[in-house]
Amino acid sequence: MERVTVDLGDRSYEIVIGPGILDALGDEAVKLGTGEKMAIVSNPKVFGLYGERVRRSLAGRGFNVGEVIIPDGEIHKNMDSVDHILTELLKMKLDRSSVVVALGGGVIGDIACFAASLYMRGIACLQVPTTLLSQVDSSVGGKTGVNHELGKNMIGTFYQPSLVWIDIDVLQTLERREVLAGIAEVIKYGVIRDQDLFSFMKDNAQKVLELDPDSIVHIIKRSCKIKADIVSEDEREAGVRAILNFGHTIGHALETLTGYDKLLHGEAVSIGMCYEAILSNALGKTGDETVREIKSIVEDYGLPSGMPEGIAPGSIMDTMMLDKKAVGGSLRFILPDRIGSVSIEKDIDKDYIIKVLRA
Ligand SMILES: NC(=O)c1ccc[n+]([C@@H]2O[C@H](COP(=O)([O-])OP(=O)(O)OC[C@H]3O[C@@H](n4cnc5c(N)ncnc54)[C@H](O)[C@@H]3O)[C@@H](O)[C@H]2O)c1
Repeated sequence: MERVTVDLGDRSYEIVIGPGILDALGDEAVKLGTGEKMAIVSNPKVFGLYGERVRRSLAGRGFNVGEVIIPDGEIHKNMDSVDHILTELLKMKLDRSSVVVALGGGVIGDIACFAASLYMRGIACLQVPTTLLSQVDSSVGGKTGVNHELGKNMIGTFYQPSLVWIDIDVLQTLERREVLAGIAEVIKYGVIRDQDLFSFMKDNAQKVLELDPDSIVHIIKRSCKIKADIVSEDEREAGVRAILNFGHTIGHALETLTGYDKLLHGEAVSIGMCYEAILSNALGKTGDETVREIKSIVEDYGLPSGMPEGIAPGSIMDTMMLDKKAVGGSLRFILPDRIGSVSIEKDIDKDYIIKVLRA
């Protein structure tokens, strides 16, 4: 078992990573000293695969465990689901010492911990992420929330979990396309902070794609450590946390423009990383080699690197301006200087960006 700490004073918590650890969740949960009532929040697919094991592990250590099942999919990441969860928690008579256990991918984690942050002004929340993307990214750092019809992730809170419990064996049942989406975020960590992780991803693609346990534990641990360090430094994204958005400024716009059903989040980020590297190069901030390295690793993993058909550069620009990352009408880009280092750039000329998007 590997452990990473997110250091946030009295709100610090552990990320625990290993193979086959799902059945030991109860042993760790006991140490948190919460009340005995718990509600597992999940969807039918993930609960059907792993719900009973998690329930048994918790009940075996004396917890009184209920469950709330919400439908699968990004489309259900909305206030209706939150309302449903809160109603069920009230019916189960959870109190202020009770716990929400988020069992699923990023969608479940975001909704369940958002509901936990609202219930009785905030009860403990455990993240049990089951997709690679949620294991390396969304379960760590305390961003919770739902989508609004006027924008993605527009309603939410900063609310840290009390524990992140990552069993890598659950990735065996994940669709390959979903695994790749998580790999895009790992590549992102390499570009923003860790040349060694980037090289590892480059040199071990076969092992990573085969879900070799040692390789998977390694990349999850490194990713979580990078995110934990950044979040510990800047919990509410006043500064350095923004670098986690490398690839996301363009990526989010592509997700919006393709209606959230053509590109997975990680796929959009992978295209975004390629174009943001090109932008950095065009501005003279990085050499051709950086662009080539990013494009070639993305393509080696079978992730997309080019613009989806029919997306006009002007509409990407307009959509980026509506994103919550656009502050006071100014776009913010995270641009690589080299592999392992990025800087935050504002006030780049809009016509210039459009020219790069057209390239
Ligand atoms: N809070 C954050 O910091 C943060 C960061 C990045 C992304 N996100 C959010 O995360 C969401 C995307 O998360 P995701 O990529 O995990 O998608 P997801 O939660 O929709 O999961 C993808 C699919 O895989 C299924 N699944 C999950 N685990 C499985 C398993 N072990 N075996 C088989 N199937 C499984 C799910 O039921 C779903 O159908 C987006 O809503 C995004 O906004 C949040």
